[in-house]
Amino acid sequence: AATLFAANAQTFPGSKPITFVVPFAAGGPTDRVARDLAEAMRKSMGGGANFVVENVNGAGGTIGANKVAKAAPDGHTLLLHHIGMASAPSLYRKLQYKPLEDFEYLGMVNEVPMTLIGKPQLEAKNYRELETYIRANAGKLNIAHAGLGSASHLCGLMWQSAINATEAMTTIPFGGTAPAMNALVGGQVDMMCDQTTNTTGQIEAGRVKAYAVTTAKPLTGNKLLKDLPTLQQAGLKGFDLTIWHGLYAPKGTPPAVLAQINAALKKALKDPDFIKKQEGLGAVVVTDNRVEPAAHKAFVTAEINKLKPVIEAGGKFAD
Ligand code: MLT
Repeated sequence: AATLFAANAQTFPGSKPITFVVPFAAGGPTDRVARDLAEAMRKSMGGGANFVVENVNGAGGTIGANKVAKAAPDGHTLLLHHIGMASAPSLYRKLQYKPLEDFEYLGMVNEVPMTLIGKPQLEAKNYRELETYIRANAGKLNIAHAGLGSASHLCGLMWQSAINATEAMTTIPFGGTAPAMNALVGGQVDMMCDQTTNTTGQIEAGRVKAYAVTTAKPLTGNKLLKDLPTLQQAGLKGFDLTIWHGLYAPKGTPPAVLAQINAALKKALKDPDFIKKQEGLGAVVVTDNRVEPAAHKAFVTAEINKLKPVIEAGGKFAD
């Protein structure tokens, strides 16, 4: 088998497409990053390789991640995933895969802020009114997310815990935040915390109400979101959540194939079109050493360790 894969390394990727498995429904922020990155990597590999995006949603991204963990290690099945790589180990007692052992790390892609948003009819006009409104309607409101292990779930968990509203709001899971956003815009759910990749357009179009950003610093460089308070400014001490995306292959993928994919990723991250698309959605393309596999893996390891106590405390940041 080793010789077979070694041969592949010379001819990789050949005519077989490279599949980006996206562990959430089409149209959401993870899907968006994957499709834009696939286009940039197709170009950075000289246009010879063709990429397909396969949405495998469910269980907060763990079903899609597991599919790649168990896929043939030939470089043709890759996982584009986010902070869920680091939160799932603390949320699932029986996770089907080990994030640090079952994958080859191919590099980080971007960092993305999150926004706290509401349905258009929500009566609270700004963040200050929002907490009061939630307390006045305890038990009657709900918040959407993309399943245990999703970024929207993690943000909701932390936010509800920070305002002591864990009991006050019902959480509603979806296969991704694209379907969740449709429900929110349609007024079927009341709130959601989602990445700017998915919310910028809806906020700009006035289809949802924006209350705050989850990053420690305000998004001063973003003309649409610069006046939104951070949750720290809104009084939630230490609240600081930024989502990130990385690229992964199954453990055992030949090093020469990994090196080719990592080289193509690094070139794609310097592609002005890709950078412009990401910036337009409030995301920041990674330019530091986390584009290298070792630093990518070290970062995810640190995030697993950082999120573990927060999740075990029910979403509470340590004081
Ligand atoms: C998440 O909440 O994890 C993602 O936004 C889900 C998605 O990309 O659809």
